[in-house]
Amino acid sequence: MSAINSVTQLRTDGNVGVISINFPPVNALSAAVRDGIHGAMQAALQEPAIEAIVLICEGSTFIAGADITEFGKPPAGASLGEVQRIVEESAKPVVAAIHGTALGGGLEVALVCHWRIAVPSARLGLPEVNIGLLPGAGGTQRLPRIVGVEKALEMMTSGSPVKAAEALEIGLIDELAPEGGLQAAAVALARRVVAEKRPLRKVREQNDKVLAARGQPALFEKFRSANARKFRGLAAPEKIIQCVEAAVNLPIDEGLQLERKLFLELMQGPQSAALRYYFFASRQAWQVPGLPKDTPILPVETVGILGAGTMGAGIAMNFLNAGIPVHIVETRQEALDRGLATIRKNYENTAKKGRLQPEDIEKRMALLTGSLELQQLADVDLVIEAVFENMEVKKDIFKRLDQTCKAGAILASNTSALDLNEIASATTRPESVIGLHFFSPANVMKLLEVVRGAHTSDSVIATSMQLAKRIGKVAVLVGVCPGFVGNRILAQRQREANALIMEGAMPWAVDRVLYQFGFPMGPFAMSDLAGLDLGWNKEKSSSSTLREVLCEMDRRGQKSGAGFYDYDEKRTAVPSQLVEQTIADFAKKKGYSTREVSDEEILERCIYPMINEGAKILEEGMALRASDIDVVWVNGYGWPIHRGGPMFHGDQVGLDKVLAKMQEFERQLGPQFKPAKLLEELAGSGRKFSDLKPAR
Ligand code: 3HC
Ligand code: NAI
Repeated sequence: MSAINSVTQLRTDGNVGVISINFPPVNALSAAVRDGIHGAMQAALQEPAIEAIVLICEGSTFIAGADITEFGKPPAGASLGEVQRIVEESAKPVVAAIHGTALGGGLEVALVCHWRIAVPSARLGLPEVNIGLLPGAGGTQRLPRIVGVEKALEMMTSGSPVKAAEALEIGLIDELAPEGGLQAAAVALARRVVAEKRPLRKVREQNDKVLAARGQPALFEKFRSANARKFRGLAAPEKIIQCVEAAVNLPIDEGLQLERKLFLELMQGPQSAALRYYFFASRQAWQVPGLPKDTPILPVETVGILGAGTMGAGIAMNFLNAGIPVHIVETRQEALDRGLATIRKNYENTAKKGRLQPEDIEKRMALLTGSLELQQLADVDLVIEAVFENMEVKKDIFKRLDQTCKAGAILASNTSALDLNEIASATTRPESVIGLHFFSPANVMKLLEVVRGAHTSDSVIATSMQLAKRIGKVAVLVGVCPGFVGNRILAQRQREANALIMEGAMPWAVDRVLYQFGFPMGPFAMSDLAGLDLGWNKEKSSSSTLREVLCEMDRRGQKSGAGFYDYDEKRTAVPSQLVEQTIADFAKKKGYSTREVSDEEILERCIYPMINEGAKILEEGMALRASDIDVVWVNGYGWPIHRGGPMFHGDQVGLDKVLAKMQEFERQLGPQFKPAKLLEELAGSGRKFSDLKPAR
C-alpha cells in the first residue's frame, strides 16, 4: 500500500491495483483528488504486478462532482481532462466501484472507466443543470452513447439521478455489488475481465445509440416544446440539448469541443453564478451562529395543533407524512370534522395521481386524532397554534397552553404578522415559545420561517431547525418584526405594484414584466388566484380601494370568473377593458395623473424596494445573513432561482446602482423609497451583501 498524496492511496490486492480516494465530505474532484487519481494511475500502469485497476472512494460516497468551491479560481493540479485521458486510454482495465452518489464530474470519471459496478443504494446522475451548467467533462457525449438520446436528455436537463437498479437496466452500470461488499465485488470483476481477456469497453467507441437518432431533428424539437415551460428563462437546458445534438451528428471529439465551449459560456454567465451561490446559501441557512454545538435537542415524538382550518390541516400533514402522531384541537365539532376530512381528501387526491399508496393513506390517518379539549395536549412535545389571526385570542390560548402543557413542551405559533413576544408574554415560559411560520398550502410549500422570540431558548431553536429538516422543510431563522422576512419584503413589492397601476401601468403590464423576470406569475394574476375578497366584507365595503371596487363589481378573482383579468372556461387570463376603465376612473378619483410607464421602471420599482427592505432587515438583525433572505424568497415566493434571490440580485446589479435609483425614486415619489443605511454604507464602500458576516 502506498500513499499517492494526502487524499489518495494505491494498494494491491493480488493482480488488482485499488485506487482509493478519501476527501470528505463528498470526495469532490478537487486539485488534490485529480492529482491523486492521475498519480495513482501512473503508478499502477508502471507496476507490472498490477493487471487491472479499481477506482473506489472512502466515506459516504463516490465522487459527487467537480469541487464547486474551486470554480472561478485559477486552475491548479492535473486537469480533469488529463485524469480522464489516463483512465480511458489505460491499457489495463479500470473498474469504477460506486457507492453513495456518482454525480457530475464523478459520474463523468466513472464513464471513462471501462466497467462500472455499484451497490443497490447508489445513485448516479449529472446534476450540473441545477447549478446552471452542463456536464462539462464529456457527460453530454458519453451518456447518450450508453442510455440513448431521450433518456440522456431527460437525465441531464432534470438533473435527477437514477438508482442503481435503473442504472443497471439502462446500461449505465455493468453489475450490482452486494451492499457492504463493493470493493471485493469490484476486484472480482476486474480479475474476471483480466482472466477472460475481455477487450476494453470504451464508451466513446459505442456509437449505436447516437447513430440511431441521427437524421431525426424532430426528436429534439419535440423535447424542447414538451419542456418549454420548465426550461423558461434557463440557459443550461438548451445548451445541453445542443450538445446532445452534437453527440448525434458529429464525431465525439467535435462534440467534446462544443461541450467545452458551451460549458465555459455557462460557467461565465450570471445564471450559473446565481445557482452556485444558491447551492451554498441553501446549505448555510441551516447553520445558526452562536448556538453551542452541544445544544440539547428536545424529543419531538408527538405534536398538538390548535385550529383545523386552512393552515392547521396543512401543517398536520407534514408531521403525519413523517410518521409523527398529531392531535388537533378545535372549538367546534364541524370545524374539526371539516379539517380532518380535508386531510383525508388531500391524501386521496395524491393517491389518485399515483403518488401515494392507498394503504399509506390509512397509515397516516391512523396517526391523526382530534378533539375539542385543550387538555388533550397535556403531554405532547410540541404544540402549534394555528387559530384566527387575533392577538387576544392567541394570548388567551397561550395562557391556557401554559397551564396545560407539560414542562419543556415547545409552544409554537403560526402567526403571520402578530408580535410573537407579546404572545409569549401570556405564558410563564417565554423560553419555550417560538414562531413556526408555515406557508399556504402548508403541506406543499417548502419554506418555514422559524421565528426566534426575545426569550426563545437555544434548545428550542435548535430543535425546531432539526424538526424542520425531519419534515422536509427549508427552514430559515428570522427575528420578530411585522411580516417577518418574507411578507415584509412582499409588502414592498405589493405597494409598488398597486401604485404603478394608479400611475398608468396596466396590471397585465406589471405581471408581464415580473413574469419575464422569471416569477411564475405576476402580483395581479396571483391576487386573482388567491381571491380578491380575502378579508372583504360586502356590508362594510366602502369603495375605498381598487380591490373593494372590483369585489363590489363581483370581480372577486378566478373563482368568480373575473378579477383584474377576465377568465374563460379554461381559466385563461385575458386583459379586461372594463378593468382598464375602472382603474382609470379610480385613479382619477384619487387624484393621480396617469402617464406612460416603461417596463424598466416597473421592474425597478417592484424589485429595488425589496432589496432595500432586505437591507433594513439585515440592519435590524432580523435575518442572520443576506443569503437567508434569498432562501426565503426562492422557496416561499417564487423568486427565480437562476437569479439567486433579491439580495444576490442586488449584488449582481450593483448596490451603487440600486442606491442611485432608490434616491431618485425618493426625490420623485416620496419617503417610502428612503434608502436603508446599510445599503448606503455598502454602496459607499464598494461592498456587497455577500461580504457581510452572519449576524448573531
Ligand atoms: N463541491 C464542493 N462541495 C460540495 C459539493 C461539491 N460538488 N457537493 C457537496 N459539497 C459540500 C456541501 O457544500 C456541504 O458542505 P458543508 O457541510 O460545509 O455545508 C457538504 O459537501 C455536504 O453536502 P450536503 O449538505 O449537500 O450533503 P448531502 O448528503 O445532503 O448531499 C450530495 C450530498 C448529494 C453530494 C449533494 O451535496 C449534492 O448534490 N452536491 C452537488 C453535486 C453536484 O452538483 N455535482 C456536480 C458539480 S459540477 C460538475 O461536476 C461539473 C463537471 O461536469 C465538469
Ligand atoms: P382559518 O380561519 O382557516 O382557521 C382557523 C381555525 O381555528 C378555525 O377552524 C377555527 O375554528 C379555529 N379556532 C379558532 N379559535 C380556536 C381555539 N381557541 N382553539 C382551537 N381552534 C380555534 O385560518 P388560517 O388561514 O388557517 O390561519 C390560521 C393562522 O395561520 C393565522 O394566525 C394566520 O395568520 C396564519 N397563517 C395563515 C396563512 C394563510 O395563508 N391562510 C399563511 C401563514 C400563516
